[in-house]
Amino acid sequence: MIQKPKGTYDVFGKNSKKIIYFENLFREVMSKYNYEYFRTPIFEASELFHRGVGETTDIVSKETFNFKDKSDRDMTLRPEGTAGIVRSFIENKYYSNPSMPVKIWYMGPMFRYERPQAGRYREFYQCGVEVFGSNDPLVDAEVISIPVNIYKLLGFNGIKVNINTLGDTESRLNYKKALLDYFKPHINDLCEDCKARYEKNPLRILDCKVDASKSIMDNAPKIKDNLTEESLQHFEMVCKYLDSMGIEYVIKENLVRGLDYYTHTVFEVEANIKKFGSQNVLCGGGRYNGLVSTLDGPDMPGVGFAIGIERTLLALDYENINLIDEDGLDIYISYMSENEKAFAMNLVNILRLSGFKTDLDLIGRNIKNNFKQAERLKAKYVIIIGEEEIKNNILTIKNNISYEEHKIKFDDLIEFFDTNISE
Ligand code: HAM
Repeated sequence: MIQKPKGTYDVFGKNSKKIIYFENLFREVMSKYNYEYFRTPIFEASELFHRGVGETTDIVSKETFNFKDKSDRDMTLRPEGTAGIVRSFIENKYYSNPSMPVKIWYMGPMFRYERPQAGRYREFYQCGVEVFGSNDPLVDAEVISIPVNIYKLLGFNGIKVNINTLGDTESRLNYKKALLDYFKPHINDLCEDCKARYEKNPLRILDCKVDASKSIMDNAPKIKDNLTEESLQHFEMVCKYLDSMGIEYVIKENLVRGLDYYTHTVFEVEANIKKFGSQNVLCGGGRYNGLVSTLDGPDMPGVGFAIGIERTLLALDYENINLIDEDGLDIYISYMSENEKAFAMNLVNILRLSGFKTDLDLIGRNIKNNFKQAERLKAKYVIIIGEEEIKNNILTIKNNISYEEHKIKFDDLIEFFDTNISE
């Protein structure tokens, strides 16, 4: 038997209902926030991620699925959504959109060659936003409020927002220098990955899982002591706007995030599932003021986040939150014999077009088994079609809850269900 590739999963049964519920909620929230939907390709030129996400990140240096197409072009299955959205924003000249900022949402599969475990897959789904064209800290706060509100609407209890700032380019340069000076005498105490990070991106030493517990980390310089006045002010305003919405957060000074493009605000939304470790991070994001120009667009700021859908659903299970819409069918249709099938087919078609959740017997059950099936499907009404019904154009409708029976003319059927089946 051929099995699914390692680190992937199939969606069916209860899980498919949960996913549909979550995705619909995300779409609804995006419409309320006035965001526009973008869809970009699942594979892009590899160069996009090398330049966009960063050569030194684990995601690009170790985890991409790469292939050459038949014309020998280097392609990569997207490991995240931001780089592709920025590419599309630039290529489609959305930067000249008069209604700034441009607020975009997206949803789809991402691919990272990671060690699979609960909450960590090689193909996983993200939904997220990217906002272009505003430096105002209001946007950072709006973006953070989206996952917070989604998790609130889902009924989560144990969710925590961690935020930090990486400051502007000048602050980051100051900070980088301070880190290089500090770690220089301790370089041999660092893990092999951090030795490489020291050369390429010393900020990433701060969120190393291997070195986290070492005492050298405790006294490492803090970003807040290296921020320019403007960067500090930006961060304070983000915090002020979050306070104004009553959004609670923790300032986590060693939060740097695993992608190279961030400037100013970075944040993560964390669950609190025991033994879930770093998979507790359900959502991550931040501001990236240099990315659009790095990818050959104009000098234009951006900020966004991405939610990991699988982790979010796992965290919901852990909190015993049941998303499944248990609503059954409105109407189930059964027929007495082969002769009534065409009539039944027309009837189910009319009822579906009129907006009723309707199904009919597709395997020729007897009456008893049809009522059992209607029970399983939680149908509110059952229609039984026989020779007489067709001849007189009057249908027998059984209320499957009160067991009341109604005789309704074919032409009055929609009115009957409109009156008796509420939303
Ligand atoms: P990220 O932190 O790499 O950020 O991913 C965002 C979320 O995707 C994570 O918090 C996690 O829930 C989920 N995730 C990541 N890797 C996996 C995996 N292997 N299996 C399951 N879930 C996973 C980004 O991707 C940025 N593009 C977010 C962003 C948008 N920043 C600004 N705009």
